[in-house]
Amino acid sequence: MPADHRSEPVGLRERGHHAATGSTTGAATAFAQPNIALVKYWGKRDERLVLPHSSSLSLTLDIFPTTTTVRLDPAAGTDAVTLGGEPAAGEPRRRVVAFLDLVRDLAGRTEPAVVDTRNTVPTGAGLASSASGFAALAVASAAAYGLDLDATALSRLARRGSGSAARSILGGFAVWHAGEGTGAAGDLASYAEPVPVSGLDPALVIALVDAGPKAVSSRAAMRRTVDTSPLYRAWADSSGADLPDMLAALRRGDLDAVGEIAERNALGMHATMLAARPAVRYLSPATLEVLDGVLQLRRDGVPAYATMDAGPNVKVLCHRTDAGRVAEVVGAAGRCPAVVARPGPGARLWTGDEP
Ligand code: PMV
Repeated sequence: MPADHRSEPVGLRERGHHAATGSTTGAATAFAQPNIALVKYWGKRDERLVLPHSSSLSLTLDIFPTTTTVRLDPAAGTDAVTLGGEPAAGEPRRRVVAFLDLVRDLAGRTEPAVVDTRNTVPTGAGLASSASGFAALAVASAAAYGLDLDATALSRLARRGSGSAARSILGGFAVWHAGEGTGAAGDLASYAEPVPVSGLDPALVIALVDAGPKAVSSRAAMRRTVDTSPLYRAWADSSGADLPDMLAALRRGDLDAVGEIAERNALGMHATMLAARPAVRYLSPATLEVLDGVLQLRRDGVPAYATMDAGPNVKVLCHRTDAGRVAEVVGAAGRCPAVVARPGPGARLWTGDEP
C-alpha cells in the first residue's frame, strides 16, 4: 500500500488555535471519510455505550468526505444543528445533541454549539455517512471544547455516535476491538487501531445501485437481528474466527484471501438479517445482478470480491490496476454508476492548508 495511505492515527493538532475561525478557542472544522467493513460490525452488547458483540475490520476510503464545523455559542439557549445547510430535526438532531452532551461532560463545559455538517455521500443509504459524520463530529467537537484526545480516545468517542465511526478516525485498514465487559471497563477496551498491511494496492469499486435512504436504520435492524434471529450467534462466532484469518491475509498482502473472507462475512451478516423476525432485507434485485457481475469477473480471471452493508449498494474489492474493468462490469451488471475508491486518510482537523 502506498505510504500516504497508511493507517496513521491523526489526533488533534493545533490545539488551542483553530484555523477554521482564527479564534484561540471554541471553534474547529474537521474532515472524515467513510469506511467499509471487510469483517462486519453487526450487533451491540451494550446499546448505551455502543459496545459491539464482535470485533470488526475496515478500510477507510479516499472519497465522500464529511466536513463538520463546531462553534461554541455561549449566548445561545440550545444547540443549533444544520445538515447540508438545512436545519436538522428529529432523530438526526437528537443524535448530534446527545453526542455534544457527551463531549461537554468529558470537557466539563456547558456552552451550546452551532454545528454545520456537510456530507458528500448520500445519507442513510448504507454508504457509511454515519461513520464519516460522527468521526468528523468527534474530532471537531473535541477540539472546539478544548479536549486533548489521542486517536484511541477519539475512536472511543466517535464510537458513541455511531459504532462504525470508531474506525473512520483512522486511515487505511483499521480493526475495531470489541473489548470485553460493560460499563467503564468495556468502554475503555473498545476502540479502533491501525492494521499492518504489506504489498496490497487495493481499490474498492462502489456500485451505486440505489442512493436513497434505507427503510430500516442500521440501529433498529441490528437490534432486531440480535433479539430475534436464530442465526445471529452462529454468525457472530464465525465473524470472530474471520478476524485473525483476515489479519493474517492482510499481513501477507493476499487480496484473494482478504476478498474471500470479506465476501463470506458480509453474506453471513445478511443471512442473519434475513432470518430476523420480521426479516430485514437490504439486498435488492440490482444487488444480486451486481453479485453475478462479480462472479463473472472472477470466472474471467479478475480477482474481485463483494461486500454489502445496510443498503443495496455493493462494494467490490479488487487490485487498483483492475478497478477500471471492475467498474465497467459491475456498473453494466447493476445498470448503475460505479465509483472507484482507494484507501484514504483518517479524520483530521482543518489546519488551513487544505484547498
Ligand atoms: O455504525 P452503524 O450503526 O451505522 O452500523 C454500521 C454497520 C455496517 O455498516 C452494516 C457494518 C459495519 O461494520 O460498518
